[in-house]
Amino acid sequence: MFSMKPKTQNLKPCIFDLDGVIVDTAKYHYLAWRKLANELGFEFTKEQNELFKGVSRKRCLEILLDIGKVEATQEQFDRWMVEKNEDYLSYIEDMDESEILPDVVKVLEYLKDKNTPLALGSASKNAKPILEKVKLLPYFDAIVDGTDVAKAKPDPEVFLIAAQKMDTRPENCIVFEDAVAGIQAANNAGMTSIGIGDAKTLSEADYVFKDFTEISVEFLNKLTNGAKSISTP
Ligand code: BG6
Ligand code: MG
Repeated sequence: MFSMKPKTQNLKPCIFDLDGVIVDTAKYHYLAWRKLANELGFEFTKEQNELFKGVSRKRCLEILLDIGKVEATQEQFDRWMVEKNEDYLSYIEDMDESEILPDVVKVLEYLKDKNTPLALGSASKNAKPILEKVKLLPYFDAIVDGTDVAKAKPDPEVFLIAAQKMDTRPENCIVFEDAVAGIQAANNAGMTSIGIGDAKTLSEADYVFKDFTEISVEFLNKLTNGAKSISTP
């Protein structure tokens, strides 16, 4: 059974995805996959990259090889996973606070100030080092990343574990996501889903904002106080 702490009863806990929500690392994942695709002799477009958002590294490589119609031995598959990650790590090596997306810190500060429980729910195995680099680790009460989950988004596992770690029920939680698979994972968990990005792409979300600069304090207040439906401009 879940225990009900007064704090989590009053304010709805918020779960943030990392890549493409907190930091603009989605572009580096894309560059690294495109490099591998080009080495294997085919193109990989930004449109195709949408399918990779929120999806585990292993699943991404499977999709990439499908796109390029490339057959791989287990040894090649494992090597390309390592190669992609090493390339990705080289892009994020010198990452700092300047790569935090606009108004993310403002929103985190605001929520933290009100004692809103905050968690990270990311598919990435690189999530913790990235949060350390951009100095946002202290904001989070719970971190769930690619090292904690067996099932990739749209499976709700990552967000369900985050709810558990915050000692709250899934339906209390609010998820901020930029990926279609991530919005589906939040919906599958029975949580409120907030899409960050393109409204058409993220049409399954309960609410969509282009970025955090579009989210008003009034909206955040209503959201974390559990308002059922909030009108947005
Ligand atoms: C997600 C990204 O956050 O993490 C995906 O949106 C990525 O594109 C996945 O594939 C896994 O990341 P990593 O860092 O473990 O390769
Ligand atoms: Mg993301």
